[in-house]
Amino acid sequence: MNNNRLIWLNGNIVPLSEATINVLAPTSQFGANVFEGIRCYWNGEDKQLYAFKLNEHFKRLKNSMKMFRMEDKYTVEELKKGFIDVVTANNYREDIAVRQTVFIDGFGSWMAKGPINMFIAPIAKSRNDFNNNRGIKCCISSWERISDKNLSPKVKVGANYINSRMAQMEAIENGYDSAIFLNNQGKVSEGPGSCLFIVRDGKLITPPVTASILESITRDAIIQLAKNELNVEVDEREIDRTELYICDEVFLCGSAMEITPVVNVDGIQVSNGNQDNITKRVHQTYIEIVAGKRDNYLSWLTPIYV
Ligand SMILES: Cc1ncc(COP(=O)(O)O)c(C=O)c1O
Repeated sequence: MNNNRLIWLNGNIVPLSEATINVLAPTSQFGANVFEGIRCYWNGEDKQLYAFKLNEHFKRLKNSMKMFRMEDKYTVEELKKGFIDVVTANNYREDIAVRQTVFIDGFGSWMAKGPINMFIAPIAKSRNDFNNNRGIKCCISSWERISDKNLSPKVKVGANYINSRMAQMEAIENGYDSAIFLNNQGKVSEGPGSCLFIVRDGKLITPPVTASILESITRDAIIQLAKNELNVEVDEREIDRTELYICDEVFLCGSAMEITPVVNVDGIQVSNGNQDNITKRVHQTYIEIVAGKRDNYLSWLTPIYV
């Protein structure tokens, strides 16, 4: 962890050591905060840091605030300005990840509506190196994914990550790298912090947004680039657990995971080890796009430095 980082907190840019939150605030006590994890990628040739899909992240953040019954305190322009200001203040010239969190401050209970405040915290985080990334082993979690009927996975609220934590910790304890959730219908939903795709007979398949998943920005980007760049058909439909055992490829995707191949599910090998498989093509295209190397996708990016 870099302790010299600067953090945006309630309109001020301060050293990390001064970015403190009241212990009695509902965010500290009950996870009453909504957030986004946003990536920026450094392009050495352009000498530019590109933020990926900022508008989509801010739209989802505002949707989380709405579903969580928070005051609509920040405009998209304010959210974006805070983001750019704090990344610029840190003068990053490398890949980073940024946590942008709107939280319930003050001294209220778990149902307090405010006061609402925000922090924006960037940290250096390099992209996955696909060649060294030999893929991960996952289990199907014994924990069910939260659903829209109890704790909606669409709300990117801190408290939801207790469900993710239970699954991830159980998986690690049992010798796996991560977990895949089934939803309350017994169908595949997502990972603890990522969405999921499988490949069957040359076609990409991913659970629909109603399968107890976060409406992932990476998932959406992959659907578009598969169709437009890779000429690969994408089916958004329910996936059975056993399809994970017999499909040709599985991968997890998200701002943090990027595209991470899953080579084994429940002890059953799923990847056929093909060096030129669809997962690799998706990953290569994705990394080129996010790093600003595809001119026709520059509209997905916000350059940080002017
Ligand atoms: C539970 C969960 N699902 C999916 C994702 C992927 O979402 P995105 O691609 O927008 O980062 C994340 C990452 O934030 C997540 O936490």
